[in-house]
Amino acid sequence: MLTLITVVLLFFSSSASLSNSAPYTPTDYILLNCGASSNTTSDDGRNWDGDADYKYSSSSSKSSSFTSKASYQEPSVTEVPYMTARIFHGKFTYKFPVSSGPKFLRLYFYPNEYPDLDITTSFFSVTANNYTLLDNFSAYLVAFSPPQAFIIKEFVITVSNNQMLNVTFTPSPNSFAFVNGIEVVSMPSNLYTGQTYGFLRLVDTKYFFELDNTTALETAYRLNVGGKDVLNIEDSGMFRTWYQDGDYIFGAAFGVTSHNQPNATIKYPQATPAYTAPEVVYKTSRTMGPTASINLNYNLSWLFTVDSGFYYLVRLHFCENDLQYVNQRVFNIFINNHTAEEAMDVIALSNGNGIPIYKDYVVLVSQSDKDLWVALHPQTSDKPEFYDAILNGLEIFKLNKPDGSLAVPNPQAEPVRTSPMLQQKHSKKKRKFLTQTKVIIGATLGSIVSLILIFSFIFCQRKHLLLKTESLNRGKVSPFLEGIRCKKFSLADILTATNNFDDTLIVGRGGFGNVYKGHIFQGTQYEVAVAIKRLNSKSHQGENEFWAEIEMLSQLRYVNLVSLIGYCNENHEMILVYDYMVNGTLRDHLYNNDNIPLQWKQRLRICIGGARGLDYLHSGAVHRIIHRDVKTTNILLDETWQAKVSDFGLSKMGPVVMTNVPITTMVKGTFGYMDPEYFRRLQLTEKSDVYSFGVVLFEVLCARPAVDISLEDDQIGLAGWALKCIENETIEQIIDPYLKGKIAPECLRVFAEIAKTCLHEVGVERPKMSDVVGMLEFALELQETAEAKQTAEVGDAIQSQTIDKVV
Ligand SMILES: *[C@@H]1O[C@H](CO)[C@@H](O)[C@H](O)[C@H]1NC(C)=O
Ligand SMILES: *[C@@H]1O[C@H](CO)[C@@H](O)[C@H](O)[C@H]1NC(C)=O
Ligand SMILES: *[C@@H]1O[C@H](CO)[C@@H](O)[C@H](O)[C@H]1NC(C)=O
Ligand SMILES: *[C@@H]1O[C@H](CO)[C@@H](O)[C@H](O)[C@H]1NC(C)=O
Ligand SMILES: *[C@@H]1O[C@H](CO)[C@@H](O)[C@H](O)[C@H]1NC(C)=O
Ligand SMILES: *[C@@H]1O[C@H](CO)[C@@H](O)[C@H](O)[C@H]1NC(C)=O
Ligand SMILES: *[C@@H]1O[C@H](CO)[C@@H](O)[C@H](O)[C@H]1NC(C)=O
Ligand SMILES: *[C@@H]1O[C@H](CO)[C@@H](O)[C@H](O)[C@H]1NC(C)=O
Repeated sequence: MLTLITVVLLFFSSSASLSNSAPYTPTDYILLNCGASSNTTSDDGRNWDGDADYKYSSSSSKSSSFTSKASYQEPSVTEVPYMTARIFHGKFTYKFPVSSGPKFLRLYFYPNEYPDLDITTSFFSVTANNYTLLDNFSAYLVAFSPPQAFIIKEFVITVSNNQMLNVTFTPSPNSFAFVNGIEVVSMPSNLYTGQTYGFLRLVDTKYFFELDNTTALETAYRLNVGGKDVLNIEDSGMFRTWYQDGDYIFGAAFGVTSHNQPNATIKYPQATPAYTAPEVVYKTSRTMGPTASINLNYNLSWLFTVDSGFYYLVRLHFCENDLQYVNQRVFNIFINNHTAEEAMDVIALSNGNGIPIYKDYVVLVSQSDKDLWVALHPQTSDKPEFYDAILNGLEIFKLNKPDGSLAVPNPQAEPVRTSPMLQQKHSKKKRKFLTQTKVIIGATLGSIVSLILIFSFIFCQRKHLLLKTESLNRGKVSPFLEGIRCKKFSLADILTATNNFDDTLIVGRGGFGNVYKGHIFQGTQYEVAVAIKRLNSKSHQGENEFWAEIEMLSQLRYVNLVSLIGYCNENHEMILVYDYMVNGTLRDHLYNNDNIPLQWKQRLRICIGGARGLDYLHSGAVHRIIHRDVKTTNILLDETWQAKVSDFGLSKMGPVVMTNVPITTMVKGTFGYMDPEYFRRLQLTEKSDVYSFGVVLFEVLCARPAVDISLEDDQIGLAGWALKCIENETIEQIIDPYLKGKIAPECLRVFAEIAKTCLHEVGVERPKMSDVVGMLEFALELQETAEAKQTAEVGDAIQSQTIDKVV
């Protein structure tokens, strides 16, 4: 009886998660949580079988495998399927009984610490039927580029009649293999490959390419262009994840994204069945913008990093929701700088508004290349009504080589070598640092003073300042908060404040959801600007975490932290309300903007404030908190230019999908801030924040982004480049031109030294945030002393002139 109920319940919840309304229902749908002893449900509500009873595996394989449990759970990692693993010391095959036809095969890897195993020594191959998916693969090495806690590999394999889908893991010699989860999902037979699919022209050649049912694919990218992430459970039934495209836009020209028009109707034609892509992909798009003269001068471009030496299938999805007629918007499509399509007119091809279509192209990415470009440009010769272009979605797949292989070598670089700073010799490093510091400080004060003296000076100073800060803090309680630590808002308040979550009020987006600028009336007296963070209901934060977070954040009160002033938890909404920071982010005042550049002393004060905020989090006044995402966009500035650290707490550990991009992608913004030691130990510590703060310091000094791929190779990463310049004593040459001649040389030397020690390769060698505060205050003092001296000298000069005159 009990079993029956369980089965019924399981059936019920699994069909619910399959979302009955999905246009496609897979005939084969297997979720295997490897190493788990019982059935489990993942956070997205899907049911996974355990494989502890050797489900789907052959008897001959059994003796060479065992189960294990990861010792450490990264914040972005969900329990299912990542925390358990099956480990293989010999060849091991899973045999999945599936119908014939194409299948998605998804492999989940969490390369972290497992008891008695050294994950860095795991190398293995994976084959599926006749295809080599991975060869001498190291999940540990692959997880460094880009940095990701776990890896999802997605393949498309066609299974013939009366075949099984056999997935075989083979450890490299003296090594072991592992896997955390396996997912098998069938798909409609002609979705990507298949005999009715026909031939495709190879871009820029006269050749055609056949994608028959012997072609195996590996998904490289799948994007909801101009829209938000689409989770696997929101797909049209095949559990594909569609990511936002913003990270892949090349250059500064982002075009404009359309709003999701809930009322737009998508009319799937026969050529584009409803399972092709979910409606939301076709409802959102990116266009070039309203100004023809601007559009004519740029290409709307996306840049993808891919494996070299393979053919790629590029599928572009289009749907015109705004326009009605032929020859309104006509554009050219370039792939890898070659014309793939001339005079693309979506309406002409689809026969109308709201009708989706897609176009496929095959390109070769040669052995010497690793970039794949997609670019759009208005076509003018047909004199269309608008000089503009549009794209709604994009998928890129790697095609198997003739030998059936999709495998590539592991990323070349050892993690320690990915950052130029780490190329410096390990040896003598510490001694060198000490002598340098001494020399600098000696030079600064004009005499040899021991380090200890300097530091005790700093600490006395610091205590003094801390007292000052505390009194300031007490004085600066928001009027709004008087008497209450944290206010409960009604949903009606929030809807009024945000004009029904009006997209035009969005001031930030992230995995957690959107941030809106809003106004809240305090009595009828005056309105207070607030930042309203609406947590995505799909984020992995549940109610309990939400309450835990409110409790924690409402206790964090510090002049250098953005304060939580309230929350709303009504109608399944989880909303946090923060103080609104009038002057925006620190980055807004450094580069790529029209703001007046900040003075050097002002920058120093902002750095000191940011450092104090982090020190407060680390010191555990309430809880010991590691920020995890220190960057110039997370340091906000209030109306008095006081720095406020933002975006800490649980809610930023948003949905897993954000940090997990299934394959090698372009270097991401935050990548430039990432602690290299994190790569090795796969664990974030306070010292990871210190590293990121070091990058912030150089960003403040040089007024350039942490990662700028438009620069020469050795200059792309600011951290490595700045360290190299310090080593070569050319740091003056890379500072913000606006600051040239305005920084006292001794102040610059100390500042650069602080940033450098923050970036020390070894975490324990980096200073604590409290030390960074002290050293920055010292740097500010040096600047002030130098300026005072200069003023005095000028004053003296004027005075002596006056005296001369009098005489
Ligand atoms: C686990 O689920 C599968 C079906 O998904 C079912 O066959 C099996 O009996 C379940 N096992 C347990 C222990 O509930
Ligand atoms: C999968 O394994 C079964 C059983 O060992 C075998 O009969 C079959 O040929 C294999 N299928 C493929 C495609 O290799
Ligand atoms: C796949 O492997 C089977 C058995 O190993 C072999 O008979 C068959 O020809 C292979 N198919 C292809 C397309 O290589
Ligand atoms: C596997 O890869 C590692 C590092 O990428 C390399 O050192 C090793 O020699 C390779 N082994 C084989 C069998 O190719
Ligand atoms: C693959 O294509 C061949 C020839 O076009 C066809 O005979 C075969 O049935 C197809 N196999 C599957 C699994 O669709
Ligand atoms: C969408 O449709 C609903 C119901 O028909 C209507 O109330 C609403 O105003 C429409 N919204 C827009 C943006 O057209
Ligand atoms: C757009 O890209 C194409 C192909 O790479 C190139 O020929 C053209 O000059 C580009 N146009 C602009 C305005 O950048
Ligand atoms: C393609 O164009 C981009 C910019 O439009 C350029 O940076 C790149 O070098 C070009 N690639 C080739 C192979 O010409």
